[in-house]
Amino acid sequence: MTERRPLAPATIAVTAGRPSGVGAPLNHPIVMASNFREGGEYTRTHGTETWAALEGAVGALEGGRAVAYASGMAAAAAIVFALSPKVVVVPSVSYMGVRTLLDEYRSTGQLEVRSVDITDTAAVAAAAVGADIVWVETPTNPTMDVADLPAIGAAAEASGARMVVDSTFATPLLQRPLEHGAAIVLHSGTKFIGGHSDLVIGLCVTADDEIHERLVRARTYQGATPGSLEAFLTLRGLRTLPVRLAAMERNAQVLVERLRNHPGVTDVRYPGTGAMMAFVVRGGADAADTVCGRVRILVPATSLGGVESTIERRQKYAGDSHVDPGLLRFSVGLEDVEDLWDDIAEALPS
Ligand SMILES: Cc1ncc(COP(=O)(O)O)c(C=O)c1O
Repeated sequence: MTERRPLAPATIAVTAGRPSGVGAPLNHPIVMASNFREGGEYTRTHGTETWAALEGAVGALEGGRAVAYASGMAAAAAIVFALSPKVVVVPSVSYMGVRTLLDEYRSTGQLEVRSVDITDTAAVAAAAVGADIVWVETPTNPTMDVADLPAIGAAAEASGARMVVDSTFATPLLQRPLEHGAAIVLHSGTKFIGGHSDLVIGLCVTADDEIHERLVRARTYQGATPGSLEAFLTLRGLRTLPVRLAAMERNAQVLVERLRNHPGVTDVRYPGTGAMMAFVVRGGADAADTVCGRVRILVPATSLGGVESTIERRQKYAGDSHVDPGLLRFSVGLEDVEDLWDDIAEALPS
């Protein structure tokens, strides 16, 4: 047989993790069992076929082996458990849940946390010296900063630190951090991979067998197991991620352009690809809150990555108090772009 070229991500998203064989169902069943006959063991320790199907598909997209968890935060906590770091470099502006988790360890003297501007590669490289983990998030939540992954990966390696990349905003389709030296890629599957705002799940992916083993042990002993229904729905979401993301990105690019030319907006932050952006409303917190109160199609909501457009003013949270008060994080959905624009334009200050 002639050698085939590697499958494209859209094909992997549709085909990976499918049962094979004559008469097999096209989707792994939702295995609702904690206990198995002798030889099959126990769900928390050995997983289920439903998890394995999802892990196989996400692993294939990232180029490693995936482990699914109860949430993105459970995946983040598993990384800390698995790598037991003493010193972690972390972006100063990034998802506040992860920063808070690391800060909990710092406050009990178990961890030194070095906070850096993740866009300042030289500063990240300097902070990596003597660190165990360089924790990158790119693009960042909520300011959409982009890190130079190849350069930070090289700097981490030179310092003997492991690079961990939270790739939630990029999804497995827009960047493959393992190719840039990441030891672990983290996803909140709650967001784009699940894609329908109906579940909470997390995933870690690694190409290192020993780290994989430790990530599985972390799940086993922290007990942060995903639900079977959630794993099933996440894989179902993954099947359409390429088309959803492409359509959302088309919407985002139109809206970015228009927002950049709108007098009621002072800054638009968009990494050039993907469905996440942030924009700053002229007039600060009150003006931005007014926008959130006026929109009728966009949903003011804290989560993101679903089929629906959501916005949120992040600076209202203590963990994001250092963000511009007028900044709205915007997860662009699948609605008609002209309806979205009318909604936003009516809500913005003129
Ligand atoms: C970038 C990023 N990482 C991790 C998480 C945590 O994921 P979860 O809410 O699934 O625990 C979030 C949630 O908002 C996020 O935005």
